[in-house]
Amino acid sequence: MACMACLLLALAFVAAEAQQMQSNISLGSILTPITNSTWLSPSGLYAFGFYRQGNGYAVGIFLAGIPEKTVVWTLNRDNPPVSNDSTLVFAGDGLASPTAHLVSFSASYASMLDSGNFVVYNFEQEIVWQSFDHPTDTLLPGQRLLSGDALFSSKSEADHSTGIFRLKMQNDGHLVQYPVDTPDSIPYAYYGSLTFDAGENVTLNLGADGHLYLLNSTGSNILNITDGGLPSDEGKLYLMRIDADGIFRLYSHDLKKDAIWSVVWESSKDKCVPKGLCGLNSYCVLSDLKAECRCLPGFESVNQGNPTSGCERNFVADACKNRNENFTYTMEELESTTWEDVSYMSLRLSEKGACIQGCLEDCDCEAAVFDGTNCRKQRLPLKYGRRANGTSNIALIKVGVQKPDTDSRIVQPGSKKKGRPDILIICLSFTA
Ligand SMILES: *[C@@H]1O[C@H](CO)[C@@H](O)[C@H](O)[C@H]1NC(C)=O
Ligand SMILES: *[C@@H]1O[C@H](CO)[C@@H](O)[C@H](O)[C@H]1NC(C)=O
Ligand SMILES: *[C@@H]1O[C@H](CO)[C@@H](O)[C@H](O)[C@H]1NC(C)=O
Ligand SMILES: *[C@@H]1O[C@H](CO)[C@@H](O)[C@H](O)[C@H]1NC(C)=O
Ligand SMILES: *[C@@H]1O[C@H](CO)[C@@H](O)[C@H](O)[C@H]1NC(C)=O
Ligand SMILES: *[C@@H]1O[C@H](CO)[C@@H](O)[C@H](O)[C@H]1NC(C)=O
Ligand SMILES: *[C@@H]1O[C@H](CO)[C@@H](O)[C@H](O)[C@H]1NC(C)=O
Ligand SMILES: *[C@@H]1O[C@H](CO)[C@@H](O)[C@H](O)[C@H]1NC(C)=O
Repeated sequence: MACMACLLLALAFVAAEAQQMQSNISLGSILTPITNSTWLSPSGLYAFGFYRQGNGYAVGIFLAGIPEKTVVWTLNRDNPPVSNDSTLVFAGDGLASPTAHLVSFSASYASMLDSGNFVVYNFEQEIVWQSFDHPTDTLLPGQRLLSGDALFSSKSEADHSTGIFRLKMQNDGHLVQYPVDTPDSIPYAYYGSLTFDAGENVTLNLGADGHLYLLNSTGSNILNITDGGLPSDEGKLYLMRIDADGIFRLYSHDLKKDAIWSVVWESSKDKCVPKGLCGLNSYCVLSDLKAECRCLPGFESVNQGNPTSGCERNFVADACKNRNENFTYTMEELESTTWEDVSYMSLRLSEKGACIQGCLEDCDCEAAVFDGTNCRKQRLPLKYGRRANGTSNIALIKVGVQKPDTDSRIVQPGSKKKGRPDILIICLSFTA
């Protein structure tokens, strides 16, 4: 399998070598995954065309001139990979495959530039479309993220379809990181540039010297995220990317040394910071600087291989209201964790025991967060959990325990009914 990939890469490379370094791509030019798979930039550093994705191919822009063929842009990234007999045609009205129109514009020729920008011109030689205006997860030097736009992380390093994090350049001038599918509001944010009063049309910019900064609408520098001033000779490459793990990083690459990408700057050193890295009812713990997702006590992973899928109860629980006499409830404790605060009731209590008692006596209460002065009662699911050593928060999770005198053949703790959500959660969806 790996050998197959090598062979294909090698083939692609031979094809690319054989092909002229075509700086102008004329109407009717065709790419296929196996032969003539890319259009190279004049220096051969960047390529536009097919690259391997899963068990097929995707179309995008990648760094062809370095051993690590880093993908910096993908066309229609959420389309399924295509087979090896696909074609891509550069036509007067856009980029097309035999079955679908992929991008529309009115073109006369195109160029894959050494900046990594794929640019399409009309007959007046005006730019009608450029990949720099449609970033996916990466910014290259000279590229900017406009107000109202966002970068979306990839699913994984190998799969460039849309992942679960975004970096938004908001209309209020604030550059913020959120999970996908959340409102642009503070409770969901996990990184902010704190420039929320900078007004409209603020842009995020990357310079050739690794300078990452915000400009306001009148062109003033309002924030240096990185100072730049890094070597910007031809041998050094920089790129900024929101990675699949939710952290955005500035990378450098030395073309002269056969080097790998190294991190120059990152939005967080703590890999547990991105919200939603661990799914519902689980929390993130750093272990050897790696993020690890753990289930709440009394829960187990929905899908062992995918920590974002979260956790569900690992016993057959009955709704508190139905008064199953075979179960008793206790509260399990998790120290030093933070969660999204979605409490439906907050009680001023200074005793942990009172908080425990309050939750046990309340059928709606499935968990509580106690911070020494407040007892915040919560319903499941719990979200955005992570261990944070600085906090005095204690999460208290209501767990059903089978009474010892009941017949374990009838209600078996640990026997999870696959596909059937917990009854407590069903009950919730009616009351919420
Ligand atoms: C590309 O095409 C344009 C328009 O026909 C022309 O002006 C330009 O010189 C061409 N560039 C190269 C490198 O051939
Ligand atoms: C590759 O493209 C070039 C230029 O468009 C063309 O001359 C050549 O025939 C193509 N090769 C194959 C194998 O399609
Ligand atoms: C193209 O794919 C088909 C089926 O997926 C395979 O049998 C064939 O060998 C592939 N061709 C090349 C040149 O890789
Ligand atoms: C922001 O850009 C829009 C569209 O170009 C423009 O209408 C608006 O006046 C700009 N706002 C500011 C504060 O410059
Ligand atoms: C842009 O920033 C400069 C310097 O902070 C400030 O003087 C100017 O008023 C800002 N422009 C706008 C439109 O906010
Ligand atoms: C950012 O750095 C540049 C020098 O590289 C400096 O001129 C500018 O004032 C700095 N901007 C801010 C907001 O500090
Ligand atoms: C929190 O403390 C534990 C145990 O002392 C340690 O292993 C862990 O790395 C710490 N986590 C952070 C984020 O500092
Ligand atoms: C409790 O357990 C008994 C057997 O020990 C069983 O007959 C009864 O149905 C159980 N009650 C519920 C509500 O599951």
